[in-house]
Amino acid sequence: MNAIRSNDACWCGSGRKFKRCHGAPEARVRKGSVSPPRGVPESIARPDYVRTGTLVRRPEPIVKSPDTIERMRRAGRAAAEVLETVGTKVAPGVTTDELDAIGHEKYIELGGYPSPLSYRGYPKSLCTSVNEVICHGIPDDRPLANGDIVNVDVTIFLDGVHGDTNATFLVGDVDATSRRLVRVTEECLGAGIAAVRPGVPLNAIGRAIETHAHAHRFGVVRTFVGHGIGEQFHTEPSVPHYFEPRATLILEPGMVFTIEPMITMGSPREQVWDDGWTAVTSDGARTAQFEHTVLVTESGVDVLTRV
Ligand code: MF3
Ligand code: CO
Ligand code: CO
Repeated sequence: MNAIRSNDACWCGSGRKFKRCHGAPEARVRKGSVSPPRGVPESIARPDYVRTGTLVRRPEPIVKSPDTIERMRRAGRAAAEVLETVGTKVAPGVTTDELDAIGHEKYIELGGYPSPLSYRGYPKSLCTSVNEVICHGIPDDRPLANGDIVNVDVTIFLDGVHGDTNATFLVGDVDATSRRLVRVTEECLGAGIAAVRPGVPLNAIGRAIETHAHAHRFGVVRTFVGHGIGEQFHTEPSVPHYFEPRATLILEPGMVFTIEPMITMGSPREQVWDDGWTAVTSDGARTAQFEHTVLVTESGVDVLTRV
């Protein structure tokens, strides 16, 4: 089934058209002002793209060595700690830049570098994506408002490898439909993870996610996908969150990648702001995301980004 369209009746039973109900529930998020760059002590090792100022992709095995897996476990746990620290500070009135400052200090305390900072020119240490922002929202001076939802995305570079995780948080009293969107999105991540085991094709993940989202009449973003991760932030394979017939790679123990579904109340079509980063739903309807970095094991799957 496709995502609900603007002129369809809203699923919530209000009797209104979707666009008059949950399609456009409020004022859209507007661009705020971004604070100056934050520094990282020289003692903390930087990824290549920071040291050299350019991103050079190089071949990296999809199946990681035992040593790399050990390092990725540490990086994954550290990413989860940063996310937990920032998540406890989410509240009405707190700006996303204040969240960035808290996250930035935590990365450093853990001895890691904030992977987003200077990645392809990205200016901050977290992504903070509010309401209709799908992903890659840049922390700024906008205070969170009661009723918002905000995704915080953390990636740490520690011990020469990256760990990548995100979660969507409720700000104060959030309406029931948004709460349902957030809950179903977390369930979609769970369904994707539950599909992971050796011998199954990669597209089993997207199939499971899409089935669950569509059962709730929510949309699945197609433009942004999960990714291999390791010594590089984004590497092979791509991990679609929808059923992709061509994604036939057979999962094997030692593979590490992210699963990070972005689920929408309305259309999954997106537009990117002229800051070159902030991706929003074209219809202005809310969207949520959850992300984990996972390892394929002999018996199934390990989630690396847990505290
Ligand atoms: N952490 C995001 C992901 O899940 C990527 C952010 S790229 C940045 O892949 F430059 F915006 F940080
Ligand atoms: Co990711
Ligand atoms: Co991420």
